[in-house]
Amino acid sequence: MTERIQELIAEIEALHAESAEQAEQLRIAYLGKKGKVTILFDDFRLLPGEQKRELGQILNKLKNLATEKIAGLKNSLSQVADNSDKPDLTLPGESMRLGSRHPISITRNEIVAIFNRIGFVVTEGPEIEDDWHVFSALNFPPEHPARDMQDTFFIEKSPDILLRTHTSSVQVRVMEKQQPPIRIIMPGRVFRNEAISARAHCIFHQVEGLYIAENVSFADLKQTLLFFAKEMFGEETRIRLRPSFFPFTEPSAEMDISCNLCGGKGCNMCKYSGWVEIMGCGMVDPNVLESCNIDSKKYSGYAFGMGIERIAILKHKIKDIRLFFDNDIRFLKQFEAVL
Ligand code: DAH
Repeated sequence: MTERIQELIAEIEALHAESAEQAEQLRIAYLGKKGKVTILFDDFRLLPGEQKRELGQILNKLKNLATEKIAGLKNSLSQVADNSDKPDLTLPGESMRLGSRHPISITRNEIVAIFNRIGFVVTEGPEIEDDWHVFSALNFPPEHPARDMQDTFFIEKSPDILLRTHTSSVQVRVMEKQQPPIRIIMPGRVFRNEAISARAHCIFHQVEGLYIAENVSFADLKQTLLFFAKEMFGEETRIRLRPSFFPFTEPSAEMDISCNLCGGKGCNMCKYSGWVEIMGCGMVDPNVLESCNIDSKKYSGYAFGMGIERIAILKHKIKDIRLFFDNDIRFLKQFEAVL
């Protein structure tokens, strides 16, 4: 019997189980009614008194060993099972998803940064304006079509309160308060009563520029805009100025850049002309200076204005202006890499 006990001790010590079920089967196999250890106790009862004393202790030890071993197996298996429900703290962390700047903000920041480098300071003005700052002070005649309900969102009539149709209104606000030299860049949101399409929206963004000092010439304007075009669209970019008309500048021009898609050879984007229009500009009309109490005999200056959407469309080759307002994450995500 002693031998049998030794055998069982070795056997029990080597026991292992893969699941709680297996551990239970082991318990039955060793400690159940017909279990290997239980059977030894049956045999033990038949032994003569002397041997009983000797073997009794060893047999009890065997039983304890089996009980503890199997309980231990069960315990460790139930711990594994419990852990599977809990988060595994050793897993590597999930990286946090970052948002991205809106392409309009990116483009505005880029434009502003370029002009900052040559001394232009950012200034902003209100989106809800009066007739004076949006039209009258800017030399718009009373019958000008831009004053029409068709083009402008009016909030109140006489006195007219309206949503600004361009950022040129900020020029007036600054010149009324400050004497030259003035060198400012004015980004902002503007509103026009237009049907929404791939090419037009009733809300969009502009950047206005203004430089007023003594002896400012058209050549200064041209050089500044050439610098901007090269910084924004690349060193190989060329510009051209076409005569145009705006009530607040004289002379006025529209500026084109050589098409940044085909390099001027002609493509779909530039309608095979090699040029794309990016802004209006000109020398500030003396009437505007006088409306703002600036001496037009002493000072002259230039102004320019461009649509931020237009610049972003050209720069990133976007086909539909409405994408800027849909806020579809699949569109916005494409600008994650740009700061
Ligand atoms: N305000 C004009 C517009 O909204 C853009 C513009 C043209 C601004 C010429 C200027 C300028 O300052 O000189 O279409």
